[in-house]
Amino acid sequence: MSFRFYFHFGSMAASIVKRVSRVKKLNVSHISARYKLLTGFRHFSTSKQWNKALVLGVYENESTDSIDFTGTARKFDEKADGKISQLLLTVKKPLKCGKTRTLHAVDPEFSSVLVTCIGKRGEGYDELETVDKGRESIRAAVAKAVLQLRELGENEIEVDSCGDTEASAEGCHLALFSYDDLKAEKSRKPAVRISCATRYSQDKNSMEKEWRKGAILAEGQNLSRRLMEMPANLLTPTKFAEIVKEQLADKCEVLVRDKDWAESMKMGSFLSVARGSVEPPVFLEIEYKGRQSDSPLALVGKGVTFDTGGISIKPSQGMDAMRGDMGGAACVAGSLLSVSKLQLPVHVKAFIPLCENMPSGSATKPGDVVTAMNGKTIQVDNTDAEGRLILADALCYSEQFNPSLILDMATLTGAIDVALGAGAAGVFTNSENMWNKLQKASVRSGDRVWRMPLFNHYTKKITECQLADLNNIGGSRSGGACTAAAFLKEFVNNKNWLHLDIAGVMSNSGDVAYLGKGMSGRPTRTVIELINLMSKETKN
Ligand code: BES
Ligand code: ZN
Ligand code: ZN
Repeated sequence: MSFRFYFHFGSMAASIVKRVSRVKKLNVSHISARYKLLTGFRHFSTSKQWNKALVLGVYENESTDSIDFTGTARKFDEKADGKISQLLLTVKKPLKCGKTRTLHAVDPEFSSVLVTCIGKRGEGYDELETVDKGRESIRAAVAKAVLQLRELGENEIEVDSCGDTEASAEGCHLALFSYDDLKAEKSRKPAVRISCATRYSQDKNSMEKEWRKGAILAEGQNLSRRLMEMPANLLTPTKFAEIVKEQLADKCEVLVRDKDWAESMKMGSFLSVARGSVEPPVFLEIEYKGRQSDSPLALVGKGVTFDTGGISIKPSQGMDAMRGDMGGAACVAGSLLSVSKLQLPVHVKAFIPLCENMPSGSATKPGDVVTAMNGKTIQVDNTDAEGRLILADALCYSEQFNPSLILDMATLTGAIDVALGAGAAGVFTNSENMWNKLQKASVRSGDRVWRMPLFNHYTKKITECQLADLNNIGGSRSGGACTAAAFLKEFVNNKNWLHLDIAGVMSNSGDVAYLGKGMSGRPTRTVIELINLMSKETKN
């Protein structure tokens, strides 16, 4: 990724930087390093002094005279002649899940040893919570640990696998993410190198492999978060396409379609949203061919790089969050990054309609009628219900590739946030089988899903329309997420369709301990886990 993709005048900026630095006799490499940071690339200086730290896990234990260490932690305690357990036992209160103790000068190799409690031994799937509590506790515990060590100025951290290497890697890589590229150097979070404490493992190779898998899962979600967090003046549809191309081009085929192409495909519904903006729309088509097949998995993502609501304009308070209205598109890109880095034996095709939803003299007006790719006419009574309009054409187009599954993700409705909050993404599907698979994937990832209805009851609300085949709103606020899903259903024939309304999980305000505040990139890891699961079935 180069800074060029983040600024309208990228290459021009580079030459200006060079010219200015020549005049002022500045060091060009310093300036380009500063610009590299703006793009999100962190480079470790070789002259830097590394402060090594260690994270060790312990299980919750009522006893005041023994510590229930993880396998790795016990070995480190032995190496330190039992000093770690001695120090932990000097205070009466045993460590509770999610709590930490930081020890110094216990091991000459590490300036800090942070002990983090990963909950009760043997915890697993919780049916009511639909989550694997053991894995979630590990993610949260190591996340807290690495953040505390970063605060202490530690910049090289060895982390206990805590009995689940993948979850441990996910937890720390997700926790250390920050989007501070646009801030001055002194306000940015320092870079931290993390690795897995494998030295006492029986099988170092498989541990390293699992660590890498966890890190790649987190990397995918972190790409989604970065794209979602980026301000809409920098992340236009064109820029989104450039970044995705840069990130995926060596592993995927990336086709960047323009407005003329969308017109030739008769995507009148998509183009009706884009027409209010001076930013040209883009339709991205990406292919990852990890195996030969005639029926790919199709991913579709809503890519509204900013949603003002259009002529049905939104209230100004909190409107800045609508820079994340390309969350579906971001999660598709993030998922593809991980799937391709993991080289999963699967064939995936992704379809991403990108545009801005703006009010202007050329914008669609309430009551206008537009025609989608499949010939259905739509009365646009509310221009703020734009996500379904761009997805309608993308879903129709994806059907042309004989997909074995269509999975779309969209920050589609405020109503799903009212229904589920940040607890889970809302899932609408015509396939019990696919629902079961997705839920299974979400138990692994800890990023939950919850099934919602696709009743005809909701279809009636959008087919009762004065001027056209469909109305883009349901007429009342009731069941808003369900009427939106019912609208999308009109553009899908595939028997395996999953629609994920991710508006409620778009941002994190502290609910997920290992994510920090800001755009969440949810449910990227759930989708990767689903694709991983499906790659093990031969058909795809
Ligand atoms: N992008 C919004 C939905 C949204 C809301 C995403 C909150 C993230 C957080 C979507 O385009 C929208 O405005 N939907 C309307 C639909 C309504 C007009 C039928 C909504 O939910 O209010
Ligand atoms: Zn909207
Ligand atoms: Zn929207």
